[in-house]
Amino acid sequence: MAHILIDLFSDTTTRPTPGMRKAMMEAAVGDEQRGEDPTVLELEARVAALLGKEKALFLPSTTMANQIAIKLHTQPGDEVILEADSHPVHFEGGGPGLISGVHLRTIPGRRGLFTAEQVREAVRSDLAIHSRSALLWVENTHNMGGGTVWPLDQLLSVCEAGRSLGLKLHLDGARLLNASVASGHPAHVLAEPFDTVSFCLTKGLGAPVGGLLAGSAEEIARARRYKQALGGAMRQAGIIAAAGLYALDHHVDRLAEDHRRARRLADALAKIDGIEIDPSHVETNMVFFRVRHPRFTSKTFLDALKQRGVILSQGRGGSLRAVTHLDVDDAAIDRAVAIIAELLA
Ligand SMILES: Cc1ncc(COP(=O)(O)O)c(C=O)c1O
Repeated sequence: MAHILIDLFSDTTTRPTPGMRKAMMEAAVGDEQRGEDPTVLELEARVAALLGKEKALFLPSTTMANQIAIKLHTQPGDEVILEADSHPVHFEGGGPGLISGVHLRTIPGRRGLFTAEQVREAVRSDLAIHSRSALLWVENTHNMGGGTVWPLDQLLSVCEAGRSLGLKLHLDGARLLNASVASGHPAHVLAEPFDTVSFCLTKGLGAPVGGLLAGSAEEIARARRYKQALGGAMRQAGIIAAAGLYALDHHVDRLAEDHRRARRLADALAKIDGIEIDPSHVETNMVFFRVRHPRFTSKTFLDALKQRGVILSQGRGGSLRAVTHLDVDDAAIDRAVAIIAELLA
């Protein structure tokens, strides 16, 4: 393995910065399970306000936030309507079936986005032969769709369609602040139509652990019991909540830098023979592209890059994904481009 390392695998690979570690070291702590950790309580209040919801609940992961949201809004046998490449479809260990006993009714999206018409088509009638359509799910930004940002009018029309058909609405906002920074709409505006919102501290925000679920006081009180049942209640969790507070103070505006670097990477890749990419699809911190080269498949290309110290991940259907984040600067982007160009020359 080469000694340079440019890790574009995901925005989850960041290490806590010295300032963040200091905040963690100095955090006031208490027993989180008993609601006595002051730093956790501060983080929950802060995220609830950010998202314009009554309450938020600190959790070990955003996967747990998503799973609790499904549990909150459904009964076994119900259906969740969501885009076909949404996170729970591929990456949550079968949790919707395991934990909530629900079906996933998937909608084919365009780069992760779908329309109000598709929602109306997906919702079942009341006939007893169908399962009950219970929950509409939106992911913003959409990860596998390409870090795509929902245009506000499309988001509102999809939510309006779901609401008018009696569905509950959940937003997987693991990267909601990327969407907010890219679109200029405040997070609470993007969260407003939804009953509940998942929010992640470990992606672009750069914290080492944690996600939150936000919603009404009643929903979050119920969610707290599911958190306990799933083993998500913690003890002196202020240590990690402090990293989240630090991230909200220091790492939000800088998401624009990640977006700029993703664009820089995409524009440079577009000039390399053997790479297929549409840079106009890069809206936030993700770059998806394909390798069209007689010497490589996407898998062998990934391996060859890894040998040279550049780590990417596999997207859907043979595409490759590079994600920019806190630990990647302009020089790293330029170096990655040079290594990719050299490999394909
Ligand atoms: C869109 C989306 N939702 C949820 C998650 C789950 O987050 P966590 O890793 O905190 O469980 C991820 C993680 O990559 C994600 O991309």
